[in-house]
Amino acid sequence: MSNLLDIEGLERRELEHYLELAESFAEVQTRSIPKVPVLRGKTVVLAFFEDSTRTRMSFDLAARRLSADVVNFAVSSSSTTKGESLRDTVETISAMGVDGIVVRHSSSGAPQRITEWTDAAVINAGDGWHQHPTQALLDCYTIRRRLGSLEGKQIAICGDIKHSRVARSNIAAFTKLGAEVTVVGPRTLMPADLAAWPVRYSPGIDEIIGDLDVAYMLRIQQERQGAPLFPSVREYRSLYGLTRARAERLPARALIMHPGPVNRGVELDPEVMDDERTVVLDQVTAGVSVRMAVLYRLLGPGQFDETSKPPETSLAELAASTASSEPVGESPAAENVTSTDSASGEVATSFDALTSEVAV
Ligand code: NCD
Repeated sequence: MSNLLDIEGLERRELEHYLELAESFAEVQTRSIPKVPVLRGKTVVLAFFEDSTRTRMSFDLAARRLSADVVNFAVSSSSTTKGESLRDTVETISAMGVDGIVVRHSSSGAPQRITEWTDAAVINAGDGWHQHPTQALLDCYTIRRRLGSLEGKQIAICGDIKHSRVARSNIAAFTKLGAEVTVVGPRTLMPADLAAWPVRYSPGIDEIIGDLDVAYMLRIQQERQGAPLFPSVREYRSLYGLTRARAERLPARALIMHPGPVNRGVELDPEVMDDERTVVLDQVTAGVSVRMAVLYRLLGPGQFDETSKPPETSLAELAASTASSEPVGESPAAENVTSTDSASGEVATSFDALTSEVAV
């Protein structure tokens, strides 16, 4: 069983394969019934041991849009509050027969440990300061969609690099895809081993802002810091925030990104949130397509190997193989949609056909 634990473990080709697959799933999401039957009969558990809104909802929607059954595990109402260990919790979930476990945990390395206690595919939805691989994939996807490619692009990641799993995953993914990354922020928010990272360092943002293709702003993570690492939020904004004045110096082609949740008026000024270069909501939209791609690859028939075909081919085969199975339509709107492929008896060859099967 494959897992998705970090970006380092992915070859460039695998990363690109996820992004290509996500393109296909993005197209599905524009349909009136954005659902395909590829994970029918599979069960995905969302085991979030740390707070999350967008990542949890995004995985939840992604799994449902692939027709998987989804079980939500809320820590506040679970037996972990009664002292159950992570291992016992995972073994209990596994014993119920699940195919995938999506894990968010405040301890770095927790998803890796969980792989030792379950046969289900484990997907890291953020572990401590360590990694957040689906965030990196959705960010790469958003940049590719807007700028065509990451090759040679100048990307600044600004803020609390030291405590950020998003920074670690994104630096790995951006550089694998050919971008040049500069990390920006006070020394107190940089990791001790920065020299070993494949990045440049700039203590200020003003020196480099005029040459950027992407300004990636990180959230100030009070909850992951111990004592405050900078004097005040107001000072942070004046030195590192993307203020309106700074945004004016950013090239017209550039993108403004943030993983969310945004502290408005700290990392991004409210006016900058509305700037047409700001793609924060595109990132959120991309998250669902990318997570569909990840779930499909790990739980469905889309497992990666060096000889695997382009997604279009394998999806076409998949469509053909599901063309004769009974429909799983759940939406009342389904009645209004006709399936030309099955009506004409032709072999389904595209996502259209797959969606039609759901819609009948
Ligand atoms: C990030 C996270 O939780 O790691 N947010 C997210 O997944 N949308 C970044 C953050 O918390 O700042």
